[in-house]
Amino acid sequence: MREGAKGRADPVEERILRLLMENRGSYVSGQRIADSVGISRTAVWKRVKRLKGRYGDLIESRPSSGYRLKEDYTPLDGLDLLIPPESTIGHPLFIYQEVASTNDIACDLALKGIREGATVVADAQTRGRGRLGREWFSPRGVNLYLSTILRPPIPPWKGPQLVFLGAMAVVRAVEGLGLRVEVKWPNDILVKGRKLSGILTEMSSEPERINFVILGIGVNVNMEEEMLPPELKGRATSLRGETGRVVDRARFAASLIHHLNRYYRLFLDQGSAPILDEWKGYSFLDGREVEVLGPGSVLRGIVLGVDDDGALLLRTSHGVERIISGDVTLKGGLEDQPCYLP
Ligand code: BTN
Repeated sequence: MREGAKGRADPVEERILRLLMENRGSYVSGQRIADSVGISRTAVWKRVKRLKGRYGDLIESRPSSGYRLKEDYTPLDGLDLLIPPESTIGHPLFIYQEVASTNDIACDLALKGIREGATVVADAQTRGRGRLGREWFSPRGVNLYLSTILRPPIPPWKGPQLVFLGAMAVVRAVEGLGLRVEVKWPNDILVKGRKLSGILTEMSSEPERINFVILGIGVNVNMEEEMLPPELKGRATSLRGETGRVVDRARFAASLIHHLNRYYRLFLDQGSAPILDEWKGYSFLDGREVEVLGPGSVLRGIVLGVDDDGALLLRTSHGVERIISGDVTLKGGLEDQPCYLP
């Protein structure tokens, strides 16, 4: 683990955590921890108590056996070794224990002039952000929170198209685990209608050029249904929930970075058209009756698809509307089902 955004991590806690990680799934006695870290058993107990404050029930203790980190915890450490040197995305890589939002850290780095491809991942976010000012549920140690900095030489109006690149990278990484996914305009990745992943793009630009785009991606990896707050129950899912097995977050993140790199190269060479074409093959909304909440307007109609610039095409009673931003809710069917998540 690297330095966290809230200050330097306690080196003793880090060593204890590392020992627990090395023995993940098995109990390590208090005495063994005390011996290998060079502190008393009481000090071990205090430090583990603090770690539990951060890792919750991922760290378990049993009086006669000691402490263990549950197998559900797959560390992000080691991710740097899984990213090929020639990859633009993922170099440099910043791994944090906890941040307010990886997008904020990435934004600070971008403002300081860091090269494109620089990527921030975190074990937890305290103020993870979703679209339209919503919160992104970001529990510790189970999911992936990743933000990467791009500096594409394109006009600012094309910036929002980068969301499709992010979505297709998530689709390919998830398909690598044998799952079937769908995409919901503009930024959601769903499995069986439940949200698995969301993308938040944020941009700094001048009238003619983009300074940088932050592509922020959240993927629910090993989160379990019980962890969800009531408002997300039944509406969000995770890779673990769908595959029935714990997914290695570092490996999954490496696969995602591989696909991000591939799609970014394609975007720079050929623009968004080939990526949008692939994206259309996964579209969840086509032909469905929806309501679109835009800034100051509500439109109702049937989704026809997306156009070459990535705008949503909606057949309404007044003709075909072209929508560049908005929040889509399914209408009709068994019940009105909001298909976005807060
Ligand atoms: C959405 O579906 O509304 C977008 C969610 C985006 C969440 C990711 S997690 C990594 C990055 N950091 C954030 O604070 N948000 C994005």
